Amino acid sequence: MHIVIIGGGGMLGRKLALALGRRGEIGGRAISQMALADIVGPAIPEASFPVTAHRLDITDRAAVDGLLADGADVIYHLAAIVSAQSESEFDLGMAVNLMGSINVFEAARALGTTPKLIFTSSIATYGGEIPEMIEDWTALNPQTSYGAQKAAAEMLLTDYSRKGFLDGRGLRLPTISIRPGKPNKAASSFMSSIFREPLQGREAICPVDPDYAHAYLSPRRCVENLIIAAEVEAEALGMNRCFALPGRTHLIGDMVEDMRRVAGDAVAGLIRWEPDPEIQKIVLGWKAHFNPAKALALGFVRDDSFEDNIRFFLEDDIEG
Ligand SMILES: NC(=O)c1ccc[n+]([C@@H]2O[C@H](COP(=O)([O-])OP(=O)(O)OC[C@H]3O[C@@H](n4cnc5c(N)ncnc54)[C@H](O)[C@@H]3O)[C@@H](O)[C@H]2O)c1
Repeated sequence: MHIVIIGGGGMLGRKLALALGRRGEIGGRAISQMALADIVGPAIPEASFPVTAHRLDITDRAAVDGLLADGADVIYHLAAIVSAQSESEFDLGMAVNLMGSINVFEAARALGTTPKLIFTSSIATYGGEIPEMIEDWTALNPQTSYGAQKAAAEMLLTDYSRKGFLDGRGLRLPTISIRPGKPNKAASSFMSSIFREPLQGREAICPVDPDYAHAYLSPRRCVENLIIAAEVEAEALGMNRCFALPGRTHLIGDMVEDMRRVAGDAVAGLIRWEPDPEIQKIVLGWKAHFNPAKALALGFVRDDSFEDNIRFFLEDDIEG
């Protein structure tokens, strides 16, 4: 199997590449080669099969065609301009999240082999005047430019799948926490940094109140789900190619108490509570409660509790 990961230099792309390098197979079929592409040069993980790294910009259609010149069985499209940056840089968000996604879909279509295309959408596609509990059939009503760009790309992914141009699987990710590395430009960045930084002995700012509720998934379980997405049979997906991944909904205050239980008072005391109206304007519009029935029926997984997220961070990502 030939795997391509676009956005392979990002947090999830790197972890996915590492996991696939270790596994060497998807759904019992051996991986024969893997190409990683990103606007920043992706690192090559250890693997028993050849892995290549490509620096490319998905807004350049010819570059995406060049990347797929050797064909592909599974294409992961994870490249994106994340939420707060898409809000502050509208044109960049449109160019990458919508037009860049269309370039990826068109390049996949041009292969003529109906490759599997796994696209990472977001629960930011939900919002506005809809019921508090999100069901699989709840209408998308994004309240940010990022969410709107993801929703538009989802519609096209579904149509390209219906036409047989590609075999699309669009996953609406909850917030992935605890995210390793540096803070990014997602409005949700604090949902990782208030745990990641104190667990590594550093202060962090929480811009929302302790009763703020949101849905989370650990990076480890997210990567497992990205792999499951390539294993699910097309027939099992039916007509709804895009759906919410399972997460767990927690209050920020409860998550901090989980961290206090695992790591102690001194660590939890490193959080400074400083409300930020700009961040709140985005994140208070996101929906928190989900019934991801379709994803669970298809075998997608979630964490058992937020203590899992903390434990996985300590096992997989803590520095030093
Ligand atoms: N992490 C989360 O909480 C979360 C939640 C919902 C959805 N998602 C989606 O999951 C995907 C991966 O998320 P992540 O956390 O790894 O994000 P990330 O920002 O770490 O990775 C995205 C990658 O896309 C690359 N990229 C940006 N513009 C590009 C361009 N023009 N051409 C090529 N590459 C480009 C970036 O360099 C980056 O490496 C994204 O599509 C994101 O929207 C993530």
